[in-house]
Amino acid sequence: MHSEKFAEQIVEHLSTAVLVFNTQLQLVFINSAGEMLFAHSSRHLCGQSVHELLANSEVMVELLAAAITSEQVVIQRSCLLELPGASDLRVNGTFTPISDAGVVGSVLVELHQIDHHLRIEQEEHLINQQQATHALVRGLAHEIKNPLGGLRGAAQLLEREINDEPLKEYTQIIISEADRMQALMDRMLGPNTVPQLQAVNVHEVLEHVRELVLVESGDSLTIDQDYDPSLPGLQADPDLLIQALLNIVRNAAQALKGTGTIRLRTRVQRNFNIGSRRYRLVMCIEVIDNGPGIDPVLQKQVFYPMITGRSDGAGLGLSIAQALISRHHGLIECSSQPGETVFTILLPLDVKA
Ligand SMILES: Nc1ncnc2c1ncn2[C@@H]1O[C@H](COP(=O)(O)OP(=O)(O)OP(=O)(O)O)[C@@H](O)[C@H]1O
Ligand SMILES: [Mg+2]
Repeated sequence: MHSEKFAEQIVEHLSTAVLVFNTQLQLVFINSAGEMLFAHSSRHLCGQSVHELLANSEVMVELLAAAITSEQVVIQRSCLLELPGASDLRVNGTFTPISDAGVVGSVLVELHQIDHHLRIEQEEHLINQQQATHALVRGLAHEIKNPLGGLRGAAQLLEREINDEPLKEYTQIIISEADRMQALMDRMLGPNTVPQLQAVNVHEVLEHVRELVLVESGDSLTIDQDYDPSLPGLQADPDLLIQALLNIVRNAAQALKGTGTIRLRTRVQRNFNIGSRRYRLVMCIEVIDNGPGIDPVLQKQVFYPMITGRSDGAGLGLSIAQALISRHHGLIECSSQPGETVFTILLPLDVKA
């Protein structure tokens, strides 16, 4: 009853990766979930042999061969899929031999990522936790700001009444400390305006941030660009985006103490989840540095306000960046080890549940 096109659409929208290998064991079909898993387009992957594609995952190749020789479906739970340049994944694999003009030799492979659900759960938890913390901090900052204004005003009035110069030093301390606290509270409150969404070229935003950080740092800092030229435009508030990215790139420059390399990388991810919401297209901006990495003690908490590993840090940069990106329905993730710290900013390119 349904057209072939409809069946194709269903396969494209599956969250399970579907791959078909021909009798020469070359890939002839891969769906969107598969493209996402292998982080390459179908055009790039099709034609590759199973040995190229799964070079680091011998077990997978063996299972596939077993399906062909036995002419039976082979199911393997929780096998390790090792892909070059990506972290290892656990998948449930199903290998189904299919006959091509009476000759069994083609194989249909289904790979279902089992840590995918775990990731969604963790992200949902992160989003909820961060929203709650942000609301708490904003409430607190707001409550402190009001009496602070009164305190500063009273000190100013007092200063006018005092003729004794040494005593004026004390009122000056009250005023300057109140100002310092006011500035801190303003940072904690974050930008108050409603985001002014407009078409933004993310590469222009990144170039702006790159130039600012290069000017601030010495000559021994390099910021490489690894931009995907096919990246579509984004509906965003450019000022908020600059602020968020600046906080992250500045942290990387500070961690490198002015010497090292930062890489700015942009890519598009298809059919990708941010928390429990699935989007057709997600922009992925990575800020990668080759510095010492985040202190392991801090790693799980860096997005919380007031968490800092620097003696002169307020610990607000990342929590503000996270709040700004979440105003765009996005999320910042981070992974870090000595020699490589990656902050990944995920921003939906279409709003689709
Ligand atoms: N790229 C990085 N490499 C190593 N550590 C990092 C990196 N980015 C962040 N950190 C750690 O995370 C902490 C929190 O960062 P965050 O930007 O929130 O606050 P801060 O930089 O300390 O202060 P602020 O940004 O408010 O001036 C930093 O103090 C640092 O210890
Ligand atoms: Mg910072």
